[in-house]
Amino acid sequence: MSIIVNQDKVMKMVAPLKALFLSLLFSFICISLCSATDVSYDGRAIIINGERRVLLSGSIHYPRSTAEMWPDLVQKAKEGGLDAIETYVFWDIHEPRRREYNFEENHDLIRFIKTVQQAGLYVILRIGPYVCAEWNYGGFPVWLHQIPGIQIRTDNQIYKDEMQNFTTLIVNMVRQEKLLAPQGGPIILTQIENEYGNVQWAYGEAGKRYMQWCANMAVALDVGVPWIMCQQNDAPQPLINTCNGFYCDSFKPNNPNSPKMWTENWTGWFNKWGQKNPHRPAEDVAYAVARFFQEGGTLQNYYMYHGGTNFGRTSGGPYVTTSYDYDAPLDEYGNLRQPKWGHLKQLHAALKSMEKVLTHGDVTTTDFGSGTKATIYTADGTSGCFLSNTNNWNDANVTFQGNEYFVPAWSVSILPDCKQEVYNTAKVSTQTSIMAMIPNKAEDEPAQLNWAWRGEKIKDTLNGKGSYAAQQLLDQIKVTGDSSDYLWYMTNVKINKNSAVWGKQMTLRVNTTGHALRAFVNGKHVASQHGYSFLLEVPVTLKRQTNQITLLSATVGLGNYGAFFDLQTAGIVGGPVQLIGEGNTTMDLSSNKWSYKIGLNGEQQQLYSENSRHVFKWSTDELRINRMMTWYKTTFKAPLGEEAVVVDLQGMGKGQAWVNGQSLGRYWTNFTAPDDWCGKCDYRGQYDERKCLTGCGQPSQRWYHVPRSFLRSGINTLILFEEVGGNPTQVTFQTVTVGTACANVYEGSALELSCQGGRTISQIQFASYGNPQGTCGSFQKGTCEANTAFSAVQKACVGKTSCSINVSEDVLGSSGCGNITKRLAVQATC
Ligand code: GAL
Repeated sequence: MSIIVNQDKVMKMVAPLKALFLSLLFSFICISLCSATDVSYDGRAIIINGERRVLLSGSIHYPRSTAEMWPDLVQKAKEGGLDAIETYVFWDIHEPRRREYNFEENHDLIRFIKTVQQAGLYVILRIGPYVCAEWNYGGFPVWLHQIPGIQIRTDNQIYKDEMQNFTTLIVNMVRQEKLLAPQGGPIILTQIENEYGNVQWAYGEAGKRYMQWCANMAVALDVGVPWIMCQQNDAPQPLINTCNGFYCDSFKPNNPNSPKMWTENWTGWFNKWGQKNPHRPAEDVAYAVARFFQEGGTLQNYYMYHGGTNFGRTSGGPYVTTSYDYDAPLDEYGNLRQPKWGHLKQLHAALKSMEKVLTHGDVTTTDFGSGTKATIYTADGTSGCFLSNTNNWNDANVTFQGNEYFVPAWSVSILPDCKQEVYNTAKVSTQTSIMAMIPNKAEDEPAQLNWAWRGEKIKDTLNGKGSYAAQQLLDQIKVTGDSSDYLWYMTNVKINKNSAVWGKQMTLRVNTTGHALRAFVNGKHVASQHGYSFLLEVPVTLKRQTNQITLLSATVGLGNYGAFFDLQTAGIVGGPVQLIGEGNTTMDLSSNKWSYKIGLNGEQQQLYSENSRHVFKWSTDELRINRMMTWYKTTFKAPLGEEAVVVDLQGMGKGQAWVNGQSLGRYWTNFTAPDDWCGKCDYRGQYDERKCLTGCGQPSQRWYHVPRSFLRSGINTLILFEEVGGNPTQVTFQTVTVGTACANVYEGSALELSCQGGRTISQIQFASYGNPQGTCGSFQKGTCEANTAFSAVQKACVGKTSCSINVSEDVLGSSGCGNITKRLAVQATC
């Protein structure tokens, strides 16, 4: 059979196909190029698609929340006036074993970036891959440390190959998904390394070469957007050095053509076990941001905008708590932290209204003396002004261009038209919310949880049985590869009349590099201690025969910062471990035969997991309390509603918690902060993390976040591993919501209050229009007030989920206060 092909016919058929193909090709090119975003910069601004921008950004680290929480967090960031979300990329979670990758669930970087993109925000991708971030081992996978010949963060080929491999992988992933700005994606900036400039000196010439190599390696990846290096004041062109800190107004990039960018404005600070909770006042965060833009800034990022939670064993330190709340504008659970969130939102609006003059304008300043000055930006005949008072204590009355302005100490006023003040960093009109923990109201949920328990099987280790032995005391991180917090060190010692030590009473002395240690002699617990690096000394009575010494060492998050932090050891590495007898006779056990066992039996058998292959018997007999090395199990129903869920671990000691097999992180509830001085918090003057503390004498962390996505509608399981001894009978599930809402607003503006989660304002506790005194929780009437204000507020707010009141005599009545600027202060119960 032969086939005759009619050329014309074929051409006729092909023509429309060709047209279709061309149009498809065109739309394809268009999709990738028509929506391409061009990112460039000069010494004054970052320029996006030809527009000179003021950009406001906030850090949200994807693994510190859940994928289910991301859309809401990003939406709240957008409503708060942000243009971009910044995140690090966490190498250790993505490559937990060499060349084995994980991008699932809350490790799904691409899904996170797409969530931000869908909200219409940009992304700043700080690949690192060293990230610091109070994250375990600074984000490095610990297997890196185990590679023979490796030297981390310096000019070492083995390390550089690994770093390049991971960085390239991430760049290829985002490129493949078309997430880079030139591809139409949201990523407008990328970062290599992190604050290397702070430690580079310690690595000498090799450090300089490494930094240069980082820059070249990054540039060769050809991402089409600028690369930044933070805290790197010798960053080679074209990399841009950026600033990190509580204040960056006086920062100047090392190149006149680099824009002034602030990658980390610390909105608060992280917490550590045994420490008080740090807070940074909203007025001071706003002040720092306003000063930065007053002094020519173009991009500012809040570190953190949402801090979140260090689930599992991800917290660094050592000793960083599971909560990474950071006192950020969104709290650990994703709620608005008020007034911080709202006060900054208003600031963003004021700055945005001046975007053009800030990024184009000529700049002039007028100095009024005593730390007070005006900065005037002018472009195309329009001007915008800042009035700043950098004085710690003295308020100022400034006459500027014929008008009088009151500029409180340590504040900046923003006058977008150089006439009317629309914002002052010290004048907070946003609602203050005091959060409350509400007991679990799920149907049939008993007031007290029912517990079963099970002892961790430690008989073998108390008898010295390990999985291998060495004639020396080894580094815990090397031995465990950080697969568990726990390492058992076991040895035995024969005492007889010829021993180097003598006497009945002896001291066991253990020198450890931390972070917690429990000592057992002949099966009995003799001492426990914790610290970064410490000496444990305990009197012991030994038998005149073979004695078994068992030491359980626990890490509490691996170090993440400083030159050579990766070389820090943990556990009883090198010891010495000694017995001291009468007359200071000493017996060194350091080069004894030591047996080792990694982790707990319960961990190995995954006692906390729903998928464990093992069947466990739990005891429901009399609840065992205040006993070390005990597992506890209970079931509960998820609290109704949508508000964030926490478990209150009051009464517990130290350990780890799991809900339905998912780790909530470490807990250490019985480690309280010193009960000495928490002090009054004054926003004025330089902030640092030792200022404005709360929680004196309290556990550093009592509540632990249980993300809603960990819960199911039926029965849920909570499992605790208790290391030091605790009492679970006080443990309860609660939801977090606005308990009290306050506001304090000057006349001429509107006072706005709202509850959360559909709840309504049930009561007005305080309302006064005139010159009320005090702050939320302690408002008091002043010397004058309008009699009708209270009932007006009650009428406007009670029974409503939110309310808005125009602060004026017309609405609230006459105050009889005379010629002062009056205020309305309200405290309401949600
Ligand atoms: C910076 C670092 C961040 C974070 C911060 C403190 O030095 O770049 O990753 O550790 O300090 O929270």
